[in-house]
Amino acid sequence: MLNREITQSVESILDKYKLDTTYKALIDTNSLSLAQINCILDLARFYKQNINRINNIFAKDTQNYAATLFYEASTRTKTSFAIALHNLGLTPIDLNISRSSTVKGETIYDTLATLCAMGIKLAIIRHTDSGILNFIVDNYPDLPLKLINAGDGTHAHPTQALLDLFTMLESTDNVKGKKITIVGDIIHSRVAKSNLHLLNLMGADVHLVGPETLLPFKASEVNATIHHNLAKAIENSDFVMGLRIQKERQTQGLIPSIDDYILRFQINSDVLKKANKNVKVLHPGPVNRNVELTEELIDNKDISLILKQVENGIPIRMACITMLLFNQ
Ligand code: CP
Repeated sequence: MLNREITQSVESILDKYKLDTTYKALIDTNSLSLAQINCILDLARFYKQNINRINNIFAKDTQNYAATLFYEASTRTKTSFAIALHNLGLTPIDLNISRSSTVKGETIYDTLATLCAMGIKLAIIRHTDSGILNFIVDNYPDLPLKLINAGDGTHAHPTQALLDLFTMLESTDNVKGKKITIVGDIIHSRVAKSNLHLLNLMGADVHLVGPETLLPFKASEVNATIHHNLAKAIENSDFVMGLRIQKERQTQGLIPSIDDYILRFQINSDVLKKANKNVKVLHPGPVNRNVELTEELIDNKDISLILKQVENGIPIRMACITMLLFNQ
Protein backbone atom coordinates (compact mmCIF):
# COMPACT_ATOMS: atom_id res chain seq x y z
CA MET A 1 0.00 0.00 0.00
CA LEU A 2 2.78 2.37 0.98
CA ASN A 3 4.62 1.72 -2.27
CA ARG A 4 1.49 2.46 -4.28
CA GLU A 5 1.03 5.78 -2.42
CA ILE A 6 4.67 6.74 -2.99
CA THR A 7 4.56 5.69 -6.64
CA GLN A 8 1.41 7.74 -7.21
CA SER A 9 3.09 10.81 -5.73
CA VAL A 10 6.09 10.29 -8.02
CA GLU A 11 3.75 9.85 -11.01
CA SER A 12 1.89 13.04 -10.17
CA ILE A 13 5.14 15.05 -10.02
CA LEU A 14 6.22 13.60 -13.38
CA ASP A 15 2.74 14.23 -14.89
CA LYS A 16 2.87 17.87 -13.79
CA TYR A 17 5.90 18.50 -16.02
CA LYS A 18 4.88 16.32 -19.03
CA LEU A 19 8.49 15.43 -19.83
CA ASP A 20 9.77 13.79 -22.98
CA THR A 21 10.03 10.10 -22.01
CA THR A 22 12.45 9.43 -24.86
CA TYR A 23 15.11 11.52 -23.04
CA LYS A 24 18.13 9.25 -23.27
CA ALA A 25 21.12 10.72 -21.53
CA LEU A 26 21.83 13.23 -18.78
CA ILE A 27 25.17 14.52 -20.04
CA ASP A 28 25.24 18.11 -18.86
CA THR A 29 22.99 20.75 -17.34
CA ASN A 30 22.85 22.65 -20.65
CA SER A 31 20.84 19.77 -22.14
CA LEU A 32 18.15 20.16 -19.47
CA SER A 33 14.99 22.22 -19.92
CA LEU A 34 13.60 24.36 -17.12
CA ALA A 35 10.75 21.82 -16.77
CA GLN A 36 13.23 18.96 -16.33
CA ILE A 37 15.23 20.93 -13.74
CA ASN A 38 12.11 21.82 -11.75
CA CYS A 39 10.88 18.24 -11.99
CA ILE A 40 14.21 16.92 -10.65
CA LEU A 41 14.10 19.47 -7.79
CA ASP A 42 10.48 18.54 -6.92
CA LEU A 43 11.21 14.82 -7.00
CA ALA A 44 14.33 15.32 -4.88
CA ARG A 45 12.34 17.33 -2.31
CA PHE A 46 9.73 14.58 -2.19
CA TYR A 47 12.38 11.87 -1.83
CA LYS A 48 14.24 13.79 0.88
CA GLN A 49 11.05 14.34 2.90
CA ASN A 50 10.00 10.70 2.56
CA ILE A 51 13.40 9.02 2.56
CA ASN A 52 12.46 6.50 5.26
CA ARG A 53 9.24 5.47 3.48
CA ILE A 54 10.68 4.87 0.04
CA ASN A 55 11.69 1.53 -1.29
CA ASN A 56 11.27 -0.37 -4.51
CA ILE A 57 9.67 2.32 -6.67
CA PHE A 58 10.99 0.21 -9.53
CA ALA A 59 9.70 -3.36 -9.23
CA LYS A 60 12.47 -5.94 -8.86
CA ASP A 61 10.52 -8.49 -10.95
CA THR A 62 11.04 -6.41 -14.09
CA GLN A 63 14.80 -6.95 -13.69
CA ASN A 64 15.71 -3.31 -13.62
CA TYR A 65 19.48 -3.51 -13.56
CA ALA A 66 21.62 -0.39 -13.49
CA ALA A 67 25.39 -0.38 -13.87
CA THR A 68 27.94 1.99 -12.38
CA LEU A 69 31.15 2.33 -14.38
CA PHE A 70 33.73 4.49 -12.63
CA TYR A 71 36.91 4.78 -14.71
CA GLU A 72 38.10 7.49 -12.32
CA ALA A 73 38.16 7.68 -8.51
CA SER A 74 35.09 8.78 -6.54
CA THR A 75 33.72 8.62 -3.02
CA ARG A 76 30.64 10.86 -2.95
CA THR A 77 29.19 10.35 -6.41
CA LYS A 78 29.70 6.61 -6.56
CA THR A 79 28.36 5.95 -3.06
CA SER A 80 25.35 8.22 -3.42
CA PHE A 81 24.40 6.63 -6.77
CA ALA A 82 24.65 3.20 -5.12
CA ILE A 83 22.36 4.32 -2.28
CA ALA A 84 19.98 6.04 -4.72
CA LEU A 85 19.67 2.85 -6.82
CA HIS A 86 19.13 0.76 -3.70
CA ASN A 87 16.44 3.15 -2.37
CA LEU A 88 14.57 3.02 -5.66
CA GLY A 89 14.61 -0.78 -5.80
CA LEU A 90 16.91 -1.01 -8.81
CA THR A 91 19.54 -3.73 -8.84
CA PRO A 92 22.96 -2.07 -8.93
CA ILE A 93 25.80 -3.75 -10.80
CA ASP A 94 29.14 -2.11 -10.07
CA LEU A 95 31.74 -2.86 -12.73
CA ASN A 96 35.16 -2.87 -11.11
CA ILE A 97 36.98 -1.23 -14.02
CA SER A 98 40.49 -2.24 -12.94
CA ARG A 99 39.35 -5.91 -12.84
CA SER A 100 37.15 -5.72 -15.97
CA SER A 101 37.91 -6.50 -19.62
CA THR A 102 38.79 -2.82 -20.05
CA VAL A 103 42.30 -3.81 -18.94
CA LYS A 104 42.39 -6.28 -21.87
CA GLY A 105 41.65 -3.41 -24.27
CA GLU A 106 37.84 -3.65 -24.57
CA THR A 107 36.36 -0.36 -25.79
CA ILE A 108 33.73 1.46 -23.76
CA TYR A 109 31.19 0.81 -26.56
CA ASP A 110 31.81 -2.96 -26.41
CA THR A 111 31.56 -2.86 -22.62
CA LEU A 112 28.21 -1.03 -22.78
CA ALA A 113 26.84 -3.29 -25.56
CA THR A 114 27.86 -6.31 -23.46
CA LEU A 115 26.03 -4.93 -20.41
CA CYS A 116 22.93 -4.20 -22.57
CA ALA A 117 22.92 -7.82 -23.77
CA MET A 118 22.61 -8.84 -20.12
CA GLY A 119 19.60 -6.58 -19.51
CA ILE A 120 21.21 -3.44 -18.06
CA LYS A 121 18.85 -0.47 -18.58
CA LEU A 122 20.95 2.39 -17.22
CA ALA A 123 24.70 3.09 -17.14
CA ILE A 124 26.13 5.70 -14.79
CA ILE A 125 29.58 6.62 -16.06
CA ARG A 126 32.52 8.55 -14.64
CA HIS A 127 35.45 8.86 -17.03
CA THR A 128 38.71 10.74 -17.45
CA ASP A 129 37.90 11.64 -21.08
CA SER A 130 35.93 14.88 -21.55
CA GLY A 131 32.96 14.33 -23.87
CA ILE A 132 32.96 10.51 -23.68
CA LEU A 133 29.16 10.36 -23.19
CA ASN A 134 28.55 12.71 -26.14
CA PHE A 135 30.77 10.40 -28.20
CA ILE A 136 28.72 7.35 -27.21
CA VAL A 137 25.35 9.02 -27.89
CA ASP A 138 26.48 10.50 -31.23
CA ASN A 139 28.17 7.37 -32.56
CA TYR A 140 25.96 4.64 -31.14
CA PRO A 141 22.41 6.07 -31.17
CA ASP A 142 20.85 2.59 -31.26
CA LEU A 143 22.44 1.43 -28.01
CA PRO A 144 19.34 0.58 -25.91
CA LEU A 145 20.67 2.18 -22.75
CA LYS A 146 20.00 5.29 -20.70
CA LEU A 147 23.11 7.16 -19.57
CA ILE A 148 24.00 9.47 -16.69
CA ASN A 149 27.24 11.41 -16.65
CA ALA A 150 28.85 11.06 -13.22
CA GLY A 151 31.68 13.42 -14.25
CA ASP A 152 33.72 13.30 -17.49
CA GLY A 153 37.20 14.82 -17.50
CA THR A 154 37.03 18.60 -17.34
CA HIS A 155 33.70 18.73 -19.21
CA ALA A 156 30.62 18.25 -17.02
CA HIS A 157 29.21 16.93 -13.74
CA PRO A 158 25.47 17.58 -14.00
CA THR A 159 24.27 15.75 -10.89
CA GLN A 160 26.80 17.69 -8.78
CA ALA A 161 25.49 21.01 -10.12
CA LEU A 162 21.89 19.90 -9.50
CA LEU A 163 22.65 18.94 -5.90
CA ASP A 164 24.50 22.23 -5.43
CA LEU A 165 21.42 24.13 -6.64
CA PHE A 166 19.13 22.00 -4.46
CA THR A 167 21.35 22.73 -1.44
CA MET A 168 21.35 26.48 -2.12
CA LEU A 169 17.57 26.39 -2.45
CA GLU A 170 17.34 25.01 1.09
CA SER A 171 18.88 28.32 2.31
CA THR A 172 17.05 30.69 -0.02
CA ASP A 173 13.69 30.65 -1.82
CA ASN A 174 15.18 31.45 -5.20
CA VAL A 175 18.66 31.88 -6.69
CA LYS A 176 17.40 34.44 -9.21
CA GLY A 177 19.51 37.61 -8.77
CA LYS A 178 21.61 36.01 -6.04
CA LYS A 179 25.35 36.58 -6.29
CA ILE A 180 27.14 33.24 -6.49
CA THR A 181 30.93 33.34 -6.64
CA ILE A 182 32.87 30.29 -7.79
CA VAL A 183 36.53 30.31 -6.75
CA GLY A 184 39.67 28.60 -7.97
CA ASP A 185 40.62 26.03 -10.59
CA ILE A 186 37.84 26.88 -13.05
CA ILE A 187 39.58 25.62 -16.20
CA HIS A 188 39.80 22.03 -14.92
CA SER A 189 36.47 22.05 -13.09
CA ARG A 190 33.55 20.15 -14.61
CA VAL A 191 31.61 21.20 -11.49
CA ALA A 192 32.12 24.92 -12.23
CA LYS A 193 31.05 24.49 -15.87
CA SER A 194 27.88 22.52 -15.07
CA ASN A 195 27.04 25.01 -12.31
CA LEU A 196 27.57 27.92 -14.66
CA HIS A 197 25.03 26.60 -17.21
CA LEU A 198 22.50 25.75 -14.53
CA LEU A 199 22.83 28.94 -12.50
CA ASN A 200 22.61 31.08 -15.64
CA LEU A 201 19.39 29.30 -16.58
CA MET A 202 18.02 29.94 -13.08
CA GLY A 203 18.83 33.68 -13.35
CA ALA A 204 21.64 33.84 -10.78
CA ASP A 205 24.36 36.49 -10.91
CA VAL A 206 27.42 34.27 -11.42
CA HIS A 207 30.98 35.46 -10.71
CA LEU A 208 34.14 33.44 -11.36
CA VAL A 209 37.46 34.19 -9.66
CA GLY A 210 40.88 32.56 -9.84
CA PRO A 211 44.44 32.99 -11.08
CA GLU A 212 44.67 34.01 -14.78
CA THR A 213 46.16 30.59 -15.62
CA LEU A 214 43.23 28.71 -14.06
CA LEU A 215 40.61 31.16 -15.36
CA PRO A 216 41.73 32.19 -18.86
CA PHE A 217 38.23 33.09 -20.11
CA LYS A 218 36.60 36.37 -21.11
CA ALA A 219 33.21 37.22 -19.57
CA SER A 220 31.57 37.02 -23.02
CA GLU A 221 32.81 33.43 -23.42
CA VAL A 222 31.34 32.17 -20.18
CA ASN A 223 28.35 34.39 -19.33
CA ALA A 224 29.71 35.37 -15.91
CA THR A 225 31.65 38.21 -14.35
CA ILE A 226 35.37 37.38 -14.27
CA HIS A 227 37.70 38.40 -11.44
CA HIS A 228 41.28 37.74 -10.48
CA ASN A 229 41.01 39.36 -7.05
CA LEU A 230 39.24 37.27 -4.41
CA ALA A 231 38.21 40.06 -2.02
CA LYS A 232 36.64 42.04 -4.88
CA ALA A 233 34.82 38.97 -6.22
CA ILE A 234 33.42 37.99 -2.83
CA GLU A 235 31.92 41.45 -2.10
CA ASN A 236 28.17 41.02 -1.36
CA SER A 237 28.13 37.35 -2.37
CA ASP A 238 25.23 35.21 -1.17
CA PHE A 239 27.03 31.94 -1.87
CA VAL A 240 30.74 31.24 -2.31
CA MET A 241 31.79 27.94 -3.88
CA GLY A 242 35.36 26.70 -3.55
CA LEU A 243 36.80 24.18 -6.01
CA ARG A 244 39.51 21.61 -5.52
CA ILE A 245 42.90 22.40 -7.06
CA GLN A 246 43.12 19.50 -9.52
CA LYS A 247 46.83 18.72 -9.55
CA GLU A 248 46.16 15.44 -11.40
CA ARG A 249 44.81 17.34 -14.45
CA GLN A 250 47.64 19.89 -14.62
CA THR A 251 50.21 18.89 -17.23
CA GLN A 252 52.37 21.91 -16.42
CA GLY A 253 52.76 24.17 -13.40
CA LEU A 254 49.84 26.59 -13.70
CA ILE A 255 50.34 28.27 -10.34
CA PRO A 256 53.68 29.33 -8.85
CA SER A 257 53.06 27.30 -5.68
CA ILE A 258 50.29 26.15 -3.35
CA ASP A 259 51.47 28.77 -0.84
CA ASP A 260 51.00 31.49 -3.46
CA TYR A 261 47.49 30.14 -4.23
CA ILE A 262 46.62 30.14 -0.52
CA LEU A 263 47.84 33.71 -0.14
CA ARG A 264 45.74 34.99 -3.07
CA PHE A 265 42.71 32.69 -3.32
CA GLN A 266 42.09 30.79 -0.09
CA ILE A 267 38.57 31.36 1.27
CA ASN A 268 38.89 32.22 4.95
CA SER A 269 36.75 33.97 7.54
CA ASP A 270 38.62 37.23 7.00
CA VAL A 271 37.89 37.55 3.26
CA LEU A 272 34.36 36.25 3.84
CA LYS A 273 33.60 39.43 5.83
CA LYS A 274 33.22 41.12 2.41
CA ALA A 275 30.29 38.85 1.56
CA ASN A 276 26.66 39.21 2.62
CA LYS A 277 25.95 38.62 6.32
CA ASN A 278 24.30 35.23 5.79
CA VAL A 279 26.77 33.95 3.20
CA LYS A 280 27.04 30.19 2.80
CA VAL A 281 30.08 28.31 1.56
CA LEU A 282 29.98 25.28 -0.71
CA HIS A 283 32.60 22.89 -2.08
CA PRO A 284 31.95 19.75 -4.17
CA GLY A 285 34.68 17.83 -2.34
CA PRO A 286 37.05 16.32 -1.79
CA VAL A 287 38.54 19.42 -0.14
CA ASN A 288 42.25 20.04 0.21
CA ARG A 289 41.95 21.22 3.82
CA ASN A 290 43.58 24.60 4.43
CA VAL A 291 44.20 25.11 0.70
CA GLU A 292 40.90 26.10 -0.95
CA LEU A 293 39.16 26.67 2.40
CA THR A 294 40.38 27.01 5.96
CA GLU A 295 39.61 24.11 8.25
CA GLU A 296 37.72 26.47 10.55
CA LEU A 297 35.28 27.35 7.72
CA ILE A 298 34.88 23.78 6.47
CA ASP A 299 33.72 22.65 9.90
CA ASN A 300 31.58 25.71 10.69
CA LYS A 301 28.03 24.32 10.45
CA ASP A 302 26.52 27.84 10.32
CA ILE A 303 28.41 28.70 7.15
CA SER A 304 29.55 25.51 5.44
CA LEU A 305 27.01 23.53 3.37
CA ILE A 306 29.57 20.88 2.38
CA LEU A 307 28.04 17.92 4.23
CA LYS A 308 24.52 19.04 3.23
CA GLN A 309 25.71 18.86 -0.40
CA VAL A 310 26.84 15.28 0.21
CA GLU A 311 23.52 14.37 1.89
CA ASN A 312 21.52 15.95 -0.94
CA GLY A 313 23.41 13.89 -3.52
CA ILE A 314 21.16 10.94 -2.67
CA PRO A 315 17.69 12.48 -3.34
CA ILE A 316 18.98 14.40 -6.37
CA ARG A 317 20.43 11.24 -7.92
CA MET A 318 17.23 9.33 -7.10
CA ALA A 319 15.33 12.08 -8.93
CA CYS A 320 17.61 11.98 -11.99
CA ILE A 321 17.33 8.19 -12.23
CA THR A 322 13.54 8.41 -11.90
CA MET A 323 13.30 11.02 -14.66
CA LEU A 324 15.24 8.76 -17.02
CA LEU A 325 13.72 5.38 -16.17
CA PHE A 326 10.16 5.79 -14.90
CA ASN A 327 7.53 4.43 -17.33
CA GLN A 328 10.10 3.30 -19.90
N1 CP B 1 32.13 15.87 -5.85
C1 CP B 1 32.54 14.68 -6.34
O1 CP B 1 32.33 14.35 -7.52
O2 CP B 1 33.18 13.90 -5.43
P1 CP B 1 33.72 12.44 -5.70
O3 CP B 1 34.88 12.55 -6.66
O4 CP B 1 34.14 11.91 -4.34
O5 CP B 1 32.62 11.63 -6.31
